[in-house]
Parts: sequence; structure tokens; C-alpha cells
Amino acid sequence: MSTTDDPQLELETLAEPYRTKVVEAIRLPNRAERERILERAFHSIAYINAEDVFVDLATDSGTGAMSDAQWAGMMRGDESYIRSRSYYELEKTVREITGFQYVVPTHQGRGAENILMELLVEPHAVVVSNTHFDTTRAHVENRKGIPLDLVGDCLWDFNDEQPFKGNFDLDKLRVALERYHDRVPFVLITILNNLACSSPVSMENIRETRRLADRFNIPVYFDACRFAENAHFIKTREPGYGDKSIQTIVHEMFSYGHGCWMSAKKDAIVNIGGFIAVRDEDFARRCQERLVLYEGFPTYGGLAGRDLEAIAVGLREGIDEAYLAHRTGQVAHLGKLFEEAGIVCSKPVGGSGVFVDIESLYGHIPPERFPGIAMACDLYLEGAVRAGAIPFHLKTIDTATGEMVMKDFQFARFAIPRRVYSKSHMEYVARVMERVRKNAHRNKGYRLTYAPEVLGHFFAKFEPYT
Ligand code: F0G
Repeated sequence: MSTTDDPQLELETLAEPYRTKVVEAIRLPNRAERERILERAFHSIAYINAEDVFVDLATDSGTGAMSDAQWAGMMRGDESYIRSRSYYELEKTVREITGFQYVVPTHQGRGAENILMELLVEPHAVVVSNTHFDTTRAHVENRKGIPLDLVGDCLWDFNDEQPFKGNFDLDKLRVALERYHDRVPFVLITILNNLACSSPVSMENIRETRRLADRFNIPVYFDACRFAENAHFIKTREPGYGDKSIQTIVHEMFSYGHGCWMSAKKDAIVNIGGFIAVRDEDFARRCQERLVLYEGFPTYGGLAGRDLEAIAVGLREGIDEAYLAHRTGQVAHLGKLFEEAGIVCSKPVGGSGVFVDIESLYGHIPPERFPGIAMACDLYLEGAVRAGAIPFHLKTIDTATGEMVMKDFQFARFAIPRRVYSKSHMEYVARVMERVRKNAHRNKGYRLTYAPEVLGHFFAKFEPYT
């Protein structure tokens, strides 16, 4: 990938720093078909087949397009069970990029979480994070621990334009550590902060978080799925970093941690994979022992040799500056189009996608009638676009009393797969959202017809109020 002498021109036009070698046909079902499909899918986007979706913005995870170099790497994959060459390729790359010496491959992010939580989280432990992702939260709870989310209150205001809305609220962190430090096994920094509207975390905040954790002798780990996008925002938004390379910024970010884990399905632009990377040899060995039980031999984890090669190549592509400028530019472009269409989005727009305020569109539907489901259904009906509405119940801390308190928040996420859709697709989605906004008042909400005990948002079924 290369840049012209005028990066501004590339950015303004959103000219992709790549060209297309393989295409995959997508189909737009007509309105009558969409109505039938939605009915058959119990009015839940989780039951709609992918082939019935025209633009799929449900997630940016594992949905990226691999490059020619990654596919070439797939052919080089060494499928040996023991000490595969491809493992050493991955190990070398992760060491170079993150600075962590010991690398443990896993089948995806939650495979890494399973191992780490088993080693680190005892019953009644309190894990403090800027924000836990769903699976991370579930893994802490699975160990009978308590996940505390200590992101700043500016997040609840879609229009509050702070550049690093993904930051830890350092007051909340200090109060939480003073009160619960003997129950805190580690401090977790999610970069960038996915469920905090994909907002980045500043270097200053990472540094201060480490300083506070050091006061209580508590290790710091990163959930680093989107570390490259986070580094890009440090470069473009944080004073003092504009002239530094992404690699330099990434090194500094990770220098404040004891280790990280990564779902490679995001910034390593692969369809499956992940890893744990740590500084401590003894801790890495303990991870490997669990790995053999759940995933596989230490040099392949839960992956094929070819997957390890694709991750190694993808990690380098993921920190390419031209790629990152285009990637984040595309997300920002969708945010701008939404704004022009009168849709309220979390600002400034962050990394993985655009986060929309559901209440501003469906304020007439009470929570018990699922305004998020209403929006996801309307979006599919209007244009066969899929995006997820995410209700988000978190436990945080009251800084005045130190008590744990609940907080609810809701948004729709338009997550953009990497290197998959064009600028015209973004324009299509924005036009569809314009129709959604115009017709939202007609939607009367939904009633739940089936509520599973676990993973409600994946398996629940609905019918509309008429
Ligand atoms: N941590 C974060 C911050 C994530 O966003 C995800 C996945 C995981 C961990 C788990 O990784 O899926 O490879 O097991 N996020 C996806 C998403 C599913 O849609 O944001 P995984």
C-alpha cells in the first residue's frame, strides 16, 4: 500500500489504498421479500440469513477482506502439530509490534479470555476496566467475579465531543482501587473501547492508569483487538504524537502493560484467530498449560498453521498508516452522512463503526417494547441493511460513596468490516437511514415471544405491536 504526495487528497476522496482482485456478489431482496424474510426471522436480525442482507454492518469482527499477501501466507502455512514454522513467524511479528516476548495463540479473543480469567479471576474478584466487552464481562462473571466499568460519564452524551471518550475515568478508578484493591487481580484497558462507542483511549490516560495500578501493585492488561485504530487516534488527536509513527505509538502504549490479548479478527484483518502476549515467562507457561487443555499445542493454539501466517501478515498491514487513514476515514464518512441525514451519532466518530442514539429516533417506544429491535427491523425493511442494537447494562462506581451502581445505556452500532465495502455502500446505508428516520414514528414496538436464559440478544424472538 502506498500514499500519494498529497494524503489529504486520498482522505477527502476516500480513494482506497488497495484495489479489488476478487469480488463476492451481494443481492438486494425487494420490499415484499424483505417483509417475508423478517417475519420468518421472528423480527430479529440474528435469524436473518447473511445471503438476504445487502450491506451487513452487524460486526467488524472476522468480516474483513484478506489481502493477496495474506492469502499467499495461507499457502505457506506450516501445518505441523509441533513447533510449526508459522508459529515462529507469528511470534516474531507479535514481539516486534507489541514488545511482549511470550506469545500464546488462541482460536479467537474469547479463547484467550477463557484462559486468562481462569488463571487470574477468583470468586468475588473485582475486575476493573474502562469497559468490558460482552464476552470479557461474561468470562469474569463465569468465574464468579465482578466486572466494573469505569469509563467517563461523557460517554452517555452523544454530543459531547471529547476526543478520547474511551478513557478510564481516573477518579472512578482511584476510588475503586482504594476500596477494592485487595480483590482486584488486574486492571484491564480495552483499546479502543469498543462498547464505549468505539472511542479511543489516550496515551496520557493509559500512562495514568498504569501509575494508579502501580500504587496498588496490580498488573495491567490490554484487550487489544483494535490497538492499531487506537494508535491512529492518538496520532491524530493527542498533542505531541502527530509526528510519531504508528509503530512507535503502539510500542509506547504496550510499554505500560504486563500483557495483552487480542481477537485478531479485528485489527489483524483475519477471519479467525487471536493470541495472548505477555512479558513474564512463567505466566506464559501457565497460559500454555491451559491452552493444551482447551485449544491445542502451544505452537498452534486453536488455529491452523495457515491462520497463524495470515495473522502475522495482517498485523503488519493493520498498522499501515495509509490503510488506517482510509479505514477511519470511511467510518467518519458514514458518521458525517448520518449527521447530514439528521441522525444523532456518538461524536467524535471512533474506530470500528458509527454508534447511533436509538432514543432520538424511537423515543416514543417505551423500553419494554424494545426500541432497539424496532430500529434494527426498520433498517432491514427499508434497505436490507443489518446493524445491531446493543443494550448495555454495566456496573460502575459512585465516586462519592465507593458503592457499585448499575448503569444502562443503549445504542445501535453500524460496524464496518475492513476493506469490504465502498464509499457508495456507505452512501446507500445513509439513504436507508434517512428513510428509517422519516418512518420511525409509525413503529409501535415489539413484544417478546421467546426469551432464552443465556445470550438473550442472539436468540430472542419478537412480534410487532400493530
Ligand atoms: N474484546 C473486544 C473488545 C471485542 O470487541 C471482542 C469481540 C472480543 C474481545 C472477543 O473476541 O469475538 O474473537 O472472541 N467483538 C466482536 C464485536 C464480536 O462484534 O465487537 P472474539
